[in-house]
Amino acid sequence: MCVSNNNEGIGLWVFGYGSIIWRPAMAYQVAYLATVSGWARRFWQGSHDHRGTVDKPGRVLTLVPQEGEICEGRVFGIAKEHVDQTLSDLDYREKNGYQRQQLSVQTKEQGVISALTYIAPINNLAWLGDDSNQAIATQIQHASGPSGSNRDYVLSLHEALVENGIHDEHINNIAALLR
Ligand code: SIN
Repeated sequence: MCVSNNNEGIGLWVFGYGSIIWRPAMAYQVAYLATVSGWARRFWQGSHDHRGTVDKPGRVLTLVPQEGEICEGRVFGIAKEHVDQTLSDLDYREKNGYQRQQLSVQTKEQGVISALTYIAPINNLAWLGDDSNQAIATQIQHASGPSGSNRDYVLSLHEALVENGIHDEHINNIAALLR
């Protein structure tokens, strides 16, 4: 994977707020820290296909609209020749209830960029919604699926956020209950 500060030839920007932060699995040319305003990162989406099963769904992240909130993540610049493959890989990976959405993303390096984001909207088929931190952590503790344990998903994300200097109260609280 080639990482540089060269934005020439970029055909797509992808904003990641969850597993895409720590496992982008795409041929990106540049990556920057980025924020979206009015959205909060929450473990409110069920996972039947990656980090859980139909009988025992795990909990994965989505973005929920929340006034005054800022969600920090990473934005990846994809060269034109890799756009089709990246979109097809992401559509497959984020298939369990997620939809494509364009968001305005703020970066230090590039100002505001329009970036593709995968969001699982409220009341999609795999939607779980809010619960207490303890109930969310207990469900995560006992779930695993083809991509591995749900606990690893949370702790890998938490580690990546810390490495990137990103503070997220919701993630910190759930990760602390799982350690
Ligand atoms: C993302 O990482 O941006 C989407 C949600 C996920 O796959 O965890």
